[in-house]
Amino acid sequence: MQHWVFGYGSLIWRVDFPYHERHRAAVRGWCRRFWQGSHDHRGLPHAPGRVVTLVREPDAVCIGAAYRVEEAVFEHLDHREKNGYERVSVTMQLAREGCSETTKKTVDGVTYIAAPGNEAFLGPADVDEMARHIARSSGPSGTNADYLLELAAALDDLGCEDHHVRDLVCRVRTATDQ
Ligand code: SIN
Repeated sequence: MQHWVFGYGSLIWRVDFPYHERHRAAVRGWCRRFWQGSHDHRGLPHAPGRVVTLVREPDAVCIGAAYRVEEAVFEHLDHREKNGYERVSVTMQLAREGCSETTKKTVDGVTYIAAPGNEAFLGPADVDEMARHIARSSGPSGTNADYLLELAAALDDLGCEDHHVRDLVCRVRTATDQ
């Protein structure tokens, strides 16, 4: 059986799983926030980094990438996203690029969300504090700043303007220049 998976963070650019199709996609009612702690990828158990999760916001639209995958891929993704993320059902609107036009299609699938209350959840903080936190954190998958910059570049490629991400990029650059 095949499924659609919506990626809005590292799943947009670190694609270490096989898929049949990939499209720019939008999910309504959620926004991307650097509110989840990372003990296993961009931080350490005693010094977690800050990575993205989705937070409910009725009027928001989150842009990311949708992948059509085989069921077996979940074994890998569940392990990769094990630090507080759970599969949540979402409806996504795909923008499918054809030779001369982009067609829209709505599909149901899942995304990985780290909900408030999970053991690694950090929640909101002052934006300068979040930027300093990202600037100093690092883990087995690399620096937290690289995670942020990779995400920003991937969102640029998708033509997505995300003010939360942009704001953090500016502040992390300032924090690391000092
Ligand atoms: C995602 O990318 O969709 C989940 C969060 C992450 O792994 O960065």
